Amino acid sequence: MIKDFLRIADFSSEDINHLLNLSAELKADPESRGKPLDGDTVVLYFTKPSTRTRISFEAAVAHLGGLPAMVSPAELQLGRGETIEDTARVVSEYARAFVIRTASDEDVRRFSAAASIPVINALTDNHHPCQALADLLTLNERFGRIKGLRVTYVGDAHNNVTHSLMEACALLGASIVIASPPSLRPADEILDWARAEAARHGAEVVVTDDPRGAVRGAHAVYTDVWLSMGEPEALRAERIDQLTPYRVTPALLALAVPDAIFMHCLPAHRGEEVDAAVIDGPQSVAFQQAENRLPTEMAILYALVNGLLNGAREREPAPATQGV
Ligand code: CP
Repeated sequence: MIKDFLRIADFSSEDINHLLNLSAELKADPESRGKPLDGDTVVLYFTKPSTRTRISFEAAVAHLGGLPAMVSPAELQLGRGETIEDTARVVSEYARAFVIRTASDEDVRRFSAAASIPVINALTDNHHPCQALADLLTLNERFGRIKGLRVTYVGDAHNNVTHSLMEACALLGASIVIASPPSLRPADEILDWARAEAARHGAEVVVTDDPRGAVRGAHAVYTDVWLSMGEPEALRAERIDQLTPYRVTPALLALAVPDAIFMHCLPAHRGEEVDAAVIDGPQSVAFQQAENRLPTEMAILYALVNGLLNGAREREPAPATQGV
């Protein structure tokens, strides 16, 4: 049994499919699983701003019968030097789960190791697994399947959203194409994992610097802001120069398949990574993705507190590619 929800690659495709089925059930009927958090508190610890994740988790906890307790570093002794380990041990005595948004993946791993309650990653520098689960639910709602889809991510790909999207697509057999300048490609470790996992499921991971070639044949075109939270504002002008060819315009989206969807995790900067005509247009599912944060987070909480996720089994090495 797996205790925490820290990164998509920790799970098997069976686990992720289980979460997607549960999410669909809870979206149709938020009361279907009763109030498993009745009398319990879930702590939400955010060191960074959030609209969607914070409010959807508060709503998810309330729907499941629990009390969400939102805290920031300035409100905890953690902000004055108490250790992560001591904090995790103490919070485990009072709360049923701990949701954390912070920069460092290592801090979240330390929290998870010291806590006896489930720890949920609500965004770190390298991972945004809750967003990826909502993205998978959205793809499944739109296409009735995930396996065999071609998802293209365009723009700054060295970020948490791209990393988790790659892991999620690879695990469920969707191909993912990344179009970004070479300096903004995903982390090598995540690319290697996703390539091997995609190959196990008959899919592929492609990396290119050609946005037009990447979008041809795509079922979904995804982008995110050009400057992630925590990156210095001084980089913005350089990023705009570097990434303007990667803006999702109506002309770029028109290269995808005719019923392609446009995806964005939000918040968006219209006129930078995407034109208003695209994100506010008929192919956009950005607000459906945001809507899907709530049922997917209910599913994550429900599955973790009930011990329903088994985690990834040891994976076979990817089969060797046949030479031509
Ligand atoms: N997509 C997302 O995580 O939004 P917030 O930063 O508003 O939570």
